[in-house]
Amino acid sequence: MATVGQAVGVATVLVTGGSGTLGAHVTGILRGRGHEVRVLSRRPGAGTHQGDLATGDGVRAAADGAELVVHAASDTRRMGRKDLAQTRTLLDALSPATAHLLYVSIVGIDRIPYAYYRRKLACEALVGASAVPSTILRATQFHELIALVLSTVERWPLAPLPAGFRFQTIAAAEVAARVAALVEGPPVGRADDVGGPEVLDVSAMVRRWRAVRGRPRRTLPVPVPGRVGAAFRAGHHTCPDHAEGSQTWAAFVDALGVGAPGA
Ligand SMILES: NC(=O)c1ccc[n+]([C@@H]2O[C@H](COP(=O)([O-])OP(=O)(O)OC[C@H]3O[C@@H](n4cnc5c(N)ncnc54)[C@H](OP(=O)(O)O)[C@@H]3O)[C@@H](O)[C@H]2O)c1
Repeated sequence: MATVGQAVGVATVLVTGGSGTLGAHVTGILRGRGHEVRVLSRRPGAGTHQGDLATGDGVRAAADGAELVVHAASDTRRMGRKDLAQTRTLLDALSPATAHLLYVSIVGIDRIPYAYYRRKLACEALVGASAVPSTILRATQFHELIALVLSTVERWPLAPLPAGFRFQTIAAAEVAARVAALVEGPPVGRADDVGGPEVLDVSAMVRRWRAVRGRPRRTLPVPVPGRVGAAFRAGHHTCPDHAEGSQTWAAFVDALGVGAPGA
């Protein structure tokens, strides 16, 4: 049984989103430390527990008796449209056994009026106001996210790039290590943000990508209008004071080679 706040023994941990980019690393790390890890997934066989936070199906069974919870599930493909309701469903399903829930969030969401970020902010508030002791960890964009975007546009005749954007990307595995360490410890409310080792202009990121993969051949800088574009150009999604990741974008791209991100 876990003793949160002191040395943690072996705990039963539920990881929502444990089948996703970040969650798969979190799951691996926690299993490696001997915890009994449950993974909630909508897809049969992708996790230990099949369930859907959108409908509530299977969620209570997955949560029952979980002492620690990492909430990394997000409706990322539809910009978190259902994230608030899904987070409420999870909180309602937790049993009294849950001593610590960690919610994974994104750096700068309170300063960038982007729809997905507003929804994440509402989730943070819900988690913080709930009776469950919690930690919120905000991370910068993962290398894997930029890789997914670039692998999509690299074969286009002209790959559009947000003009003037800079990113401080970090390896999902390094965020996962922080998540695992935090959830084993005492609930701290807002944890220190975590970001990658360097802030890079998107054009520099693409140059590295092209050097390894030969594409995209041509890019088109596209100005992103409005307050959202201005907030990103101002770098509110970066945290240079917490440049704690060690794997650089270049090292990530070199290791990926010509393969598919996530493969
Ligand atoms: N990607 C980034 O750059 C980044 C940066 C900072 C923070 N974050 C945050 O980190 C978290 C994980 O991001 P990610 O990029 O690893 O996500 P991802 O790869 O898109 O994975 C999303 C996960 O959410 C699960 N999920 C979605 N809807 C669900 C539902 N209705 N019921 C149950 N599970 C559901 C999916 O499980 P199934 O499909 O198997 O059901 C999947 O495991 C998110 O909260 C995200 O906002 C991401």
